Formats: sequence, structure tokens, C-alpha cells
Amino acid sequence: MRIAIIGADGQLGTDLVPALKGQDVVPLFWPEFDITRAEAAAETLSQIRADAVINTAAFHRVDECEDRADSAFAVNALAVRDLARTCRSLGAVLVHFSTDYVFDGTKRTPYLEEDRPGPLSVYAASKLAGEHFVRAYADRAFVIRTCGLYGKSGCLGKGRNFVETMLHLAASGRKEIKVIDDQVVTPTPTMELAARVAELVRTDAYGLYHMTAEGSCSWHEFARAIFELAGRDPSIVVPVDSAAFGAKARRPAYSVLENARMKATGLTPFSLWRDALSAYLSGISSVSRGRTE
Ligand SMILES: NC(=O)c1ccc[n+]([C@@H]2O[C@H](COP(=O)([O-])OP(=O)(O)OC[C@H]3O[C@@H](n4cnc5c(N)ncnc54)[C@H](OP(=O)(O)O)[C@@H]3O)[C@@H](O)[C@H]2O)c1
Repeated sequence: MRIAIIGADGQLGTDLVPALKGQDVVPLFWPEFDITRAEAAAETLSQIRADAVINTAAFHRVDECEDRADSAFAVNALAVRDLARTCRSLGAVLVHFSTDYVFDGTKRTPYLEEDRPGPLSVYAASKLAGEHFVRAYADRAFVIRTCGLYGKSGCLGKGRNFVETMLHLAASGRKEIKVIDDQVVTPTPTMELAARVAELVRTDAYGLYHMTAEGSCSWHEFARAIFELAGRDPSIVVPVDSAAFGAKARRPAYSVLENARMKATGLTPFSLWRDALSAYLSGISSVSRGRTE
């Protein structure tokens, strides 16, 4: 199976490439391959003759999206519409990623695939529009909503993920680190997500999927766990509410996703978020050792 991966050096893309070993993987990188340049993108994908196209590209700096709605919709919605049309005309399967932020966070039990979305921000609205375009234009597609991604691309110098940011702050000698405690999520390692995507893409069970680690925590609880597992003092991580943080974009207070469809399809279940974090931290400490030896 020939599989093109868009955004192959992003957090998720970096882990998708090895997860799909055994397949004929064609990695595509921005800016040479830009999903907003529809004609050039269609031409490249047609030359590749991919059986499947995995799109990890997104404009996902959530607060910046509030002031740059045109850019958010260009990347997260209109370019996705064009990709869906291209995949249909080439006979390729499209795998596309969306977000837990499509929900408004008023529920207090994990969101199911069939729950009604209620985006609170430009980012969330643009991602939901992308989902609708996939549904409208691609005849064979997987849309995967995920949450709180962290992966080794973030630790290898391409901008820090949340885990790396916390470890960096821990090492900086700060006396206090404020982290939001009124948004409940499920932090999800890209390595596990990539492995599940590799399973899913071999099926023809097309449709909408929730795919995150199991369990849930606030960002504050997540930060404390990072400190604990890294052998740092967690008491310097102080809870604050979103209002005190003053972010530009609204975010759901609760955006935990139930992996209902994935479980029904028989894919390997995800780990609990804390176990997955522990595995990630062991992995990156061996990556660091490898780089310095
Ligand atoms: N990160 C999260 O916590 C999170 C949570 C829920 C859902 N998601 C969704 O999961 C997906 C993957 O996220 P991620 O964290 O892996 O993102 P990422 O690390 O930013 O990776 C995205 C990749 O796409 C590239 N890219 C950006 N604009 C592009 C364009 N116009 N054309 C082609 N490539 C482009 C990026 O290149 P540059 O790095 O050079 O810009 C990067 O390599 C996204 O759809 C995102 O919305 C993410």
C-alpha cells in the first residue's frame, strides 16, 4: 500500500512514518508540499499514485486563529475540501485529523462520535468545517478526532510540546509554575496514536473516530504528573483558572473523548494517559542519552 503523509515532520507525522513501516510511505513536507496550493498538491499526489493520503497539516495555534480566521479556514477547512476532492478523483483513501475542541465542553461524561459539536473558537469552527468537507467530498475517508498531542518531534527541537515545556520550566529553577485546572482533557502521545492509525488504515471501516489515550485529567494534573514522573517537586505547579490565564480563544472546560467506534472496530485499546506519559518520558530520556553519547 502506498501512503502519502502530509506534514511528515510534525509531531504526529514524525511517529506515523515508522508506525507505517512495511508500507510504501511517501513523506511530504511543508513548504515544498503545501495543502493550500490545491493544484500543485493535486499534481504531486497524482504523480505519487498513493492508495491513501494522511493529512496531519493544520493551523492549530488556537489563540492566533482568533485574529487570523482567513488563515485558519484556508488550512483547516478549504484546503481539506480540496484534498478530499483530489483523493476522490484519484481513488485514494483520505485520513484526516480533527480535534476535541469541536465540542463546547458542557457534557460531564466522555463525548461520543455522535454527540453534537459546538465549537467555541475560530480554530474549532475551522476544524469542524474541515470534517464536514471530508464527509461531503471524500467517498472513502477516516476523520480522527484526538486531544492533547505530545510527541518526540516536540522534544527533538521543532518547538516544544506541553511535556517539554514543563520539563524545561522544571529545569529553569522557577519557584512557581501556574497551570490551568479548569479544562479537563486526555493527553495523548503521538506514538500510540500513530500505531492505531496504522491499524485503522488497513481496514475499510471508514467514518468518524475518537482516538485518545484513556482516562482524563486537568492540564494542572497533567503537569503535576510530568513533574512526579520526572523526579521533580510537583508542589511548585500551582492551579489557576482559565480566566486568570486570559487566553484569547475560548476552550471547552471538558473535552474528554470516548473511543467508542475504535473499540467497536476491534483496534488495540489505548493506554491510560499516565502510563503513556511514563512510557514517553522513559523513551525521551533514552533519546537524549543517544544524542549525547
Ligand atoms: N497538537 C495537539 O495537541 C492536537 C490536538 C487535537 C488535534 N490535533 C490535530 O492533529 C493534527 C496533527 O497535529 P500535530 O500536533 O502533529 O501538528 P504539527 O506538529 O504542527 O504538524 C503539522 C505538520 O504539517 C505541516 N504543515 C503546516 N501547514 C501546512 C500546509 N499548509 N501544507 C502542508 N503541510 C503543512 C507542519 O509544518 P511546519 O511545522 O513546518 O509548520 C507540520 O510538519 C492536526 O490536524 C491538529 O489539528 C492536534
